[in-house]
Amino acid sequence: MAKFLVIGGRELEGEIEVRGSKNASLPALAASLLFNEEPLFQNLPQIEDVFRMRELVEVLKKSGKINHEIAKRIRASILLTGPALARFGEVKFPHPGGCVIGARPIDVFLDGWRAMGVATDSISVANSGSSTVHSIPIYKLRASHGLHGCEYTFRVPSVTGTEGLILTALMANGDTVLKNAALEPEVKTLAEFLNKNGAKIRGAGTPTIAIEGRNGKLLESRAAFFAPPDRIEAGSLAVLGALLAKDLCIKNFPAGELISLLLTLKNAGVELDNYEIATNQRETILSHIILKRAKKFRAVDIKTKEYPGYPTDLQAPFAVLATQADGASRIHETIFEGRLNYIEDLNMMGANITLSDSRMAIINGPSILRGRKLESPDIRAGLAFIVAALTAEGQSEIGNIYQIDRGYERIDERLQKIGADIKRI
Ligand code: EPZ
Repeated sequence: MAKFLVIGGRELEGEIEVRGSKNASLPALAASLLFNEEPLFQNLPQIEDVFRMRELVEVLKKSGKINHEIAKRIRASILLTGPALARFGEVKFPHPGGCVIGARPIDVFLDGWRAMGVATDSISVANSGSSTVHSIPIYKLRASHGLHGCEYTFRVPSVTGTEGLILTALMANGDTVLKNAALEPEVKTLAEFLNKNGAKIRGAGTPTIAIEGRNGKLLESRAAFFAPPDRIEAGSLAVLGALLAKDLCIKNFPAGELISLLLTLKNAGVELDNYEIATNQRETILSHIILKRAKKFRAVDIKTKEYPGYPTDLQAPFAVLATQADGASRIHETIFEGRLNYIEDLNMMGANITLSDSRMAIINGPSILRGRKLESPDIRAGLAFIVAALTAEGQSEIGNIYQIDRGYERIDERLQKIGADIKRI
């Protein structure tokens, strides 16, 4: 099994470019099932989750079936369900897996599909693919009388829930209005891609989204999908730069989508005045940002929120920075109940973090971190372990790096180029 061997304390310098967004690419790939001809995909990140999604799409196109072994492992597999229902009238799929960061129910999807006329059944089966035997639900959905448009209000504004119901509503008979929809930029990217290819979706990026149903008529492939820069990768690199950069330029930095992180970094004492603003067709973004290690960090509190609030996916890297700040920083995780799963490891590295409950961490700094053996628990905490290992004194070994490869393209090689001592062994 491959591991990362990391030696901490090296200064980072040079240029690193942000790759295409994982969470924008996955729904666009799922949407390819709604086209009469495969659309062109550009700037997709070369990561494991994208490879798995491509495999899922290929199998589904050929056989009309979702591959359960793969679907169990990635949450975004649920995005294929709507297109599969529209194309084949029925679909069977396992409870979608992905990162173990909380219960991750799918009730808002199921309620939405029911509102569109879908019959939903579920059975529980033993999960043979796991070392600890537990059962997972298998869902069977049928749209015997086709899909019909509806008005549906999300109980919680789910990101993949919004994307999944857009993809279903697009093929329905009649129009759909989704309320309390997720505001995340990935939803807007998906709607823009679909609209460029003939869909009529209004309001994506706001809480109310209207979708014109096409009654099963597939989209014509006119415009390619171009993956925008990954805001989470960009934000994680910014945190890394704030900790270790002598002079680091992050290119393709989507600052317009990272305001809450940038404000947090500023409050923590990171200088962010040296940047250039560029405009692209999406919105105003910073084309690049130059980071230098802050001499001293101030303690800051963060509370994760839906977009445009502080992203839950950037909570773990920030915790590493907080270990270097003067005083007590508090992290309040409001989105996922199991997402402070990496704290114990940071404490073993020398951090002083207490959990006041499963959603609130109090980080007392500054602490000297020391390298150690780590196992990546999920994509984002895995990257945070790389940040911690690069900040720490001495050597760390990070295992289970498949989790990191799921979300970050050849991160070791790219970090080596800016001076990091990280090797894949
Ligand atoms: C997306 O997950 C992202 N994944 C996550 O990134 C990200 O952390 C998350 O949004 C929040 O921003 C993808 O885009 C593939 P949600 P998603 O449904 O859509 C509750 C990564 O590493 N909920 O918006 O699964 C849920 O429990 C991943 O790239 C229900 O209660 O998240 C959570 O509390 C990790 N019922 C809240 O909603 C449902 O049916 C938001 O979750 C669905 C969700």
